[in-house]
Amino acid sequence: MSEQSYRVGIVGGDGIGPEVIAQGLRVLEAAGAKLDTVDYDLGGARYLADGTILPDEIVDEWRGLDAIYLGAVGHPDVAPGVIERGLLLKMRFDLDLYVNQRPFKSPGTDGAPGHDFIVIRENTEGSYAGEGGLLRKGTPHEIATQGSVNTRRGAERCIRYAFDLARKRNKHLTLVHKTNVLQFSGDLWQRTFNEVAEEYADVDTAYNHVDAACIYFVQDPQRYDVIVTDNLFGDILTDLGGAVSGGIGLAASANMNPAQRAASMFEPVHGSAPDIAGQGIANPIAAIISGALMMDFLGEADIARRVSEASDACAALDGTTVEIADAVIAKL
Ligand code: IPM
Ligand code: MN
Repeated sequence: MSEQSYRVGIVGGDGIGPEVIAQGLRVLEAAGAKLDTVDYDLGGARYLADGTILPDEIVDEWRGLDAIYLGAVGHPDVAPGVIERGLLLKMRFDLDLYVNQRPFKSPGTDGAPGHDFIVIRENTEGSYAGEGGLLRKGTPHEIATQGSVNTRRGAERCIRYAFDLARKRNKHLTLVHKTNVLQFSGDLWQRTFNEVAEEYADVDTAYNHVDAACIYFVQDPQRYDVIVTDNLFGDILTDLGGAVSGGIGLAASANMNPAQRAASMFEPVHGSAPDIAGQGIANPIAAIISGALMMDFLGEADIARRVSEASDACAALDGTTVEIADAVIAKL
């Protein structure tokens, strides 16, 4: 077992975020991870207290960390978008976390096969980039545009990451887009995908329009191994992925800068769930699996594998947050 210790920024955040991250840290430490943690009080509650969202000085500090482990941010008393754009998207953009990796795994039940596929979502461009604006706001002639920004470099680095990942798995990669309608961005993605594919002759490829992919996610998810897609399609598809493979309470994610030029960030896909916060009943599995993704990214493959296998074995358990984490620890 490696004795290396890692400097990890902890953003518990709002609602159930701190509860699930505390259990994630317990499990990682029980598995032998050496984490030197630094706490950051950020999220909707902090914003309501003193107006702080995410200062640039903190982002600079994060560049020097090994990773960031985040629970959930979002508060019912803060207008939608403020924390999302000011914290989460700022983090993804400023740290250039261009790959959002979201694995979906479920064992299957009698008669129904399980799931085992990974969505690679481009995480810094597309319609999330903030291009566009309002003209003549408040008048009957008001105009809103919201562009989708797609660069060759941005698409290519994400597609390359997905091919490399597929090569380590079952050697099958599907591009999901909407090339039949989005003739410019779809064309860029499709051409880039086809060109990169020539370098990966050992990986089989497929293409699905995003609407068809929604049907396959529900009716035939076994066709997928690795999927690569743009930011907005990836956002929507990964909620669906969670819903069809055991629930969003199990869905984990890694927001990564694979070039390792800044700390990557690991977070459950679920939100802050204010309705159940403080009751100790949130499922910590998504946070725990996100912790396993963090250890894998840090090069601790053995810890990552043991935590993720133990989590998979406990994915169907009912119990309190602490009981589920205890069960994972018992299985390590
Ligand atoms: C996600 C979330 C975010 C997104 C929101 C909170 C900005 O839905 O991580 O999937 O849209 O990317
Ligand atoms: Mn989402």
